[in-house]
Amino acid sequence: MFQGKKILLGVTGSIAAYKSLLLVRLLIREGATVRVIQTPASRDFVTPLSLSTLSRNPVLSDLSSADTWANHVELGRWADILLIAPLSCNTLAKMAQGLCDNLLLATYLSAVCPVVVAPAMDEDMWRHPSTRANLERLRSFGNLIIPVGNGELASGLYGDGRMAEPEEKLDFVGGILKAKEGSVPVKTGTGGEKGHATSDRDLSGKRALVTAGPTYEAIDPVRFIGNHSSGKMGIALAEELAGRGAQVDLVLGPSALSTEHEGITTHRVISAAEMYKACMESFKQSDIAIMSAAVADYTPVEAAPEKIKKSGSDSLVLELTRTKDILKALGGIKKKGQVLVGFALETRDERAYALGKLQTKNADLIVLNSAKDKGAGFGVDTNKITIFGKDGQEWSYEQKPKQQVAKDIVDQVVKLLYV
Ligand code: CTP
Repeated sequence: MFQGKKILLGVTGSIAAYKSLLLVRLLIREGATVRVIQTPASRDFVTPLSLSTLSRNPVLSDLSSADTWANHVELGRWADILLIAPLSCNTLAKMAQGLCDNLLLATYLSAVCPVVVAPAMDEDMWRHPSTRANLERLRSFGNLIIPVGNGELASGLYGDGRMAEPEEKLDFVGGILKAKEGSVPVKTGTGGEKGHATSDRDLSGKRALVTAGPTYEAIDPVRFIGNHSSGKMGIALAEELAGRGAQVDLVLGPSALSTEHEGITTHRVISAAEMYKACMESFKQSDIAIMSAAVADYTPVEAAPEKIKKSGSDSLVLELTRTKDILKALGGIKKKGQVLVGFALETRDERAYALGKLQTKNADLIVLNSAKDKGAGFGVDTNKITIFGKDGQEWSYEQKPKQQVAKDIVDQVVKLLYV
């Protein structure tokens, strides 16, 4: 995937800069041509000599020196991808504001290729509202953000903000290159976002299936067994997928909510059995399936044809039978290239149960939300998730609005789809 590809690597001032040495090595080994731009601050963390030796090209750093001027426009046009890793808080803020006081920033503003950033910072900086706002701004420019990890940080503390490992960055960038070459889900240069990859259309030409909301299992013509799912998370996912260019089948249980988003076809269903049927039909054509519905696990063996009247007895016994597990059924017929995502809402032993569901249902990703978290789960506008991948990967996110959670989930799906 990298053979003959031109990667422009921006290195900024962060302890994580040492990892750029390994990244350059991996890129060269994969057959890429690598040119490195360092910000002045990054030279305190990693030397130009090491980077130039490994990249086999002189390292660029200054906008001008004596009588020469570094042509940032040429650099911005040369690259197939501009990858800024690590991305420090300082460079992030300057990018968000359009500042241009070094060669890397000038090149960023001139780039006509996809721009990918790998943030690296301590947890408190990562959580600061200015960092959140700056990242959102980059995202709105169409820049692609490699999620940070959770782990030991330079401060010695543990938490979010750890830069993705070199292999993960390689995978991410490989996925974008593949996308550029294939059915072109990553576009460049639309409208006012001159020259920047628009991550918002990275699912053009793809089909997605999303389930959302509760299911109602009829006891008699006026009563049912249901749950408190509002459908908000699933609708946010459907809208995120459609917003990024996918054609979406939304299989929606009896939720009070709906969506008018173009690109979404809503299939209203009531029961788990109806949801199962709609999903089996749509899945065959789907590249992506995200099962976020809270499907009833049991349904009355028989719904009474007439309203059940009180009898003389103080108790009433309903006989229930298991519903079909839709996610598991799709996992059983999943073909290569289809990405299947399930949810797990747990109240205890969250991790173990989520990992168990990943395996038994043959999903590619499981999104865990704990019912113990106040800002997560049914009815609320926010969610707090951890995503588990098949190869043991784990991504934890802070609590955020469901629209942004949907973006995080779809970002992980895109990585699987194109790698
Ligand atoms: N799911 C499904 N069909 C069912 C039950 C669940 O497709 N009949 C899906 C949900 O949409 C979700 C995942 O399976 O993506 C996990 O659902 P959850 O209710 O957390 O787990 P269950 O598999 O039902 O197991 P349990 O209730 O025992 O935790």
